[in-house]
Amino acid sequence: MNKYSSADCSRVASSIRRIMEDDPAPKPGDYREAAAVPGGRRHFENSVKREIRPLVRHLRSLRKRVRASEEQNESQKRLLAMVAHDVKNPLTAILGYAGMLANRLKSLPTESRYTANICTAAETLYRLINDLVDLAAMESGKLRINPRPMDLRAVLRDVRALTSLEARRRGIRLGFECPPDLPKATGDPWRLEQVIQNLCVNALQYTPRNGRVGVSAKKTAEGLRITVRDTGIGIPAKELPYIFDRHFQGQAAQARHKTGLGLGLAICREIVRMHGAEISVASRPGRGSAFSFTLPLSAPA
Ligand SMILES: Nc1ncnc2c1ncn2[C@@H]1O[C@H](COP(=O)(O)OP(=O)(O)OP(=O)(O)O)[C@@H](O)[C@H]1O
Ligand SMILES: [Mg+2]
Repeated sequence: MNKYSSADCSRVASSIRRIMEDDPAPKPGDYREAAAVPGGRRHFENSVKREIRPLVRHLRSLRKRVRASEEQNESQKRLLAMVAHDVKNPLTAILGYAGMLANRLKSLPTESRYTANICTAAETLYRLINDLVDLAAMESGKLRINPRPMDLRAVLRDVRALTSLEARRRGIRLGFECPPDLPKATGDPWRLEQVIQNLCVNALQYTPRNGRVGVSAKKTAEGLRITVRDTGIGIPAKELPYIFDRHFQGQAAQARHKTGLGLGLAICREIVRMHGAEISVASRPGRGSAFSFTLPLSAPA
C-alpha cells in the first residue's frame, strides 16, 4: 500500500493548522497534492479528524464556559440592582434625619461638626449607590430618559443649590452664566441636572483651593451649549481618550479623590448620547478642563 510519509502527514497537518489559525496565505496546493497520492485521501481525512477533534473539544468547553459566565453575569447584574435599591432606601432616611439633626444642633459647634460629617459620608454613599444603579441600568439597556421642552435655567438653579456649599467648603469660586432669554431645550431635566452636577462635582474635586469653576449655557447655531469649566489640575493627554470609559480613573485624580468608582463621566456620556449629543473635553494639565455638549432647541409651540 502506498502510505503517506510522516513528512506528508505533517505537511497536511500544518496546512490545516494554517487554515484554522486564519493564515492569510494558506497553500491549497498542499491538499490537492495529498489527495492525489493513492490512499492519500483516507490519510488526509484521518489527519483532518486528528487535527479537528481537539479543536471541537476545545470549542465545546469554550461554549460551556461562555454560557456559564453569561448566566453569572446576569445574576450579578440582578443582585447589584437589588442591593443598590435596598441600600438606597435606608440611606435616604439617614440623609433626611441627619439633615434635620444638623439643623437642630446648629448652635453646638462640636455636635454640628459630627452631623456635618454624617451628612457628607451619607451623601458620598448615596452618589456611589446611584452610580451603581445607573451602571446596572446602562448594562442591561434599561437606562431611560424622558425628553420634553425644558427650561435649562431652572436646571442650573438646582445644580447651583446642590453644589455651592461644597464649593464654599473647598474654597473655590463657583459661577453660573446664563442669559435671561435662553430659549427652551429638549431634554430630560432630571437627567441633565445629574450630568451637569456630576461635571461640577468633578470640577470641584479636581480643582485646588482658590481655583474657579464656571458653568455656562448659551444659544449657538446648533442648539444650547452647556460648558463646565475649571482652573484645576487638568488631564494628561495620554489619559484623555479613556476618561469616559467605565471605571477609568486618572492617576493624579485618584490621588486626590479616593472614594470614586470612575463611573461619573461614563454615565454623563451615556445620558448625553441619549439626547442625541456628544460630550467633549478640552484640557491642559495644570491649567484646567472644560467639558461641553449641545442640546437640541425645542421647537417653538
Ligand atoms: N474636571 C476634571 N479635572 C481633571 N480630571 C478630571 C476632571 N473630570 C474628570 N477627570 C478625570 O477623569 C477621570 C474619570 O472621571 P469620572 O468622573 O468618571 O470618575 P471619578 O471622578 O474618578 O470617580 P466617580 O465620578 O465615580 O466618583 C477622573 O478619575 C479624572 O482622572
Ligand atoms: Mg467623577
